[in-house]
Amino acid sequence: MLPVLAAAWSLPAVAFLAALLLLRAPAWRSDGRGGVSDLFHELIRYGKTRPPGWSLNYLVPKSWFTHFYVVSVVWNGSLLYWLFRAEFLGESLPSWIQDMHRALGRDSQSEDMADSEYSSALLVLLLLWLHSCRRLAECLWTSVFSNGFIHIVQYYYGLGFYIAVGSTVLCQVPANVRTGKVVRLGYDVPFGDWFESVSCPHYFAELLIYVSMAIMLGFQNVTWWCVVMCVLFNQALAAVLSHEFYEKNFRSYPKHRKAFIPHVF
Ligand SMILES: NC(=O)c1ccc[n+]([C@@H]2O[C@H](COP(=O)([O-])OP(=O)(O)OC[C@H]3O[C@@H](n4cnc5c(N)ncnc54)[C@H](OP(=O)(O)O)[C@@H]3O)[C@@H](O)[C@H]2O)c1
Repeated sequence: MLPVLAAAWSLPAVAFLAALLLLRAPAWRSDGRGGVSDLFHELIRYGKTRPPGWSLNYLVPKSWFTHFYVVSVVWNGSLLYWLFRAEFLGESLPSWIQDMHRALGRDSQSEDMADSEYSSALLVLLLLWLHSCRRLAECLWTSVFSNGFIHIVQYYYGLGFYIAVGSTVLCQVPANVRTGKVVRLGYDVPFGDWFESVSCPHYFAELLIYVSMAIMLGFQNVTWWCVVMCVLFNQALAAVLSHEFYEKNFRSYPKHRKAFIPHVF
């Protein structure tokens, strides 16, 4: 385990868990104007869960989600390139990566490094990069972005997330088309497949991606489980907000649907 990294990932995980719990507290449920609870709602709501008419301060268009995946494709693609060369051409990782390893307590000259650790990290980075390419392609050619906004704090969190997540994978090794047919604009009740069980199966699938990476890195990798916790609570929070949006706006919304995890939550 890398204690510094694990602690760094635990912080946002705890913050998202706290936000999820606060959302259940009556005093914090108000999303009217004024007061600390409104700042809280400003920070956690975006897209359809952000009521129209709210302040436009510190907001960026939700379509800027695309930037997250541009950053991720470039950054994680570079990390993949360096790790690939280290694994197959026997080259050293760049010196700044070795410095980062040392700063985080990882010995860059370890000889006892099992080949499987390198292979696991390579595979996870490759999957992360492919996932980012897919999301970028969706943002560019499939998503039809509304006029929604996200808070600048969430925007910087998103940019930092994809830089930090690839770097965390690398630290696990020592250092030697708009084809979607738009039926109509506006929000509707989604249905079909996993949507019959939960309001946000795409958030659940996102969690499963990170859990599968944890399995590839070895179940005992505590640092990566902190990443998983961060994604879990982040996506749970977004799912609860989304679920409440559907319950509030669609009277016939299926009662049996959970928010995030089928049959559980
Ligand atoms: N790893 C992480 O920490 C992390 C964090 C955030 C997101 N993500 C991933 O990024 C992807 C997108 O996330 P997101 O939060 O933007 O998803 P989202 O809120 O469900 O939005 C996806 C798109 O669908 C639209 N939409 C949502 N609900 C709709 C409805 N009922 N009817 C019609 N259109 C609807 C949204 O419009 P609006 O924009 O107008 O809402 C947006 O264009 C997901 O796969 C998520 O798992 C990952």
